[in-house]
Amino acid sequence: MRKPLTVGSLIAGRTGSVPMQTAPLPVKAEAPKPQMASRPVARPQESTPVVLVRQNGRQFAVKAVPSQTLLSAALAQGANLAYKCQQGSCGKCTVQLLAGGTCLAAPTTQEQDRLGGKLVQGYRLACQSSFRSTIPK
Ligand code: FES
Repeated sequence: MRKPLTVGSLIAGRTGSVPMQTAPLPVKAEAPKPQMASRPVARPQESTPVVLVRQNGRQFAVKAVPSQTLLSAALAQGANLAYKCQQGSCGKCTVQLLAGGTCLAAPTTQEQDRLGGKLVQGYRLACQSSFRSTIPK
């Protein structure tokens, strides 16, 4: 004959107690994480204008630095433009502008004297041509 169940009979360790069976807690299945749509990673826009020049068959991209000469900006940025006098007389630093020429100020007297008609073909003296103090974007 079974004993009737009482509150005390359910406490573990008491005589006649019914061993408590603990049911395993339900485990929540982890919901699948929503997949991110594959989009190209947005990269910060490079807002600094760049002047692209060619010298001796090599191309160089030089970031515009207000009021700095094209040569000094190029050298500071690791572009090894050829140069010699830095006075506008030897012509060794002559480059041809391929793009971004609007960032540069008007040709100097030294450039006009040295380059003459080549100015209209986009040639400049890197040591004499300076970026404008305000760079158009
Ligand atoms: S380095 Fe001589 S003209 Fe520019």
